[in-house]
Amino acid sequence: MKISIKTRIGKDDPEEFARLLDIYNQYPVEELIIHPRVQKDFYKNQPNLGAFHDAVEESKIPLCYNGDIFTPESYEEMKREFPQVDTFMLGRGILMNPALLDLIRMREKQM
Ligand SMILES: Cc1cc2nc3c(=O)[nH]c(=O)nc-3n(C[C@H](O)[C@H](O)[C@H](O)COP(=O)(O)O)c2cc1C
Repeated sequence: MKISIKTRIGKDDPEEFARLLDIYNQYPVEELIIHPRVQKDFYKNQPNLGAFHDAVEESKIPLCYNGDIFTPESYEEMKREFPQVDTFMLGRGILMNPALLDLIRMREKQM
């Protein structure tokens, strides 16, 4: 059975993430989906892109980026920021605009 894990970068402090990633890296996980905020952020602050960059360097597991993709532009920004990543999860963006995936795909076809 294939298992994916969805994670934030810690409970209280982004410093927790290195240890969490060490643990995830020990298992044959199919995909690691990271929303780079800590739990206590709820949805405050910006996603911690530095922590996601660290994960790109250190993860043995294929990564999926998740967090604050609300427009085609913000999706393209994350694609540029993380060219090694080809999987993205969208949450609230889809709830706010169910056509968001179509908009993203249309722009990708134009490029
Ligand atoms: C209504 C709602 C329900 C959610 N339920 C879950 C859930 O059951 N499990 C989970 O891991 N994340 C859940 N999330 C968090 C999202 O999967 C996602 O990680 C978070 O919203 C950040 O992505 P976004 O900025 O694209 O919304 C939920 C988010 C929303 C808005």
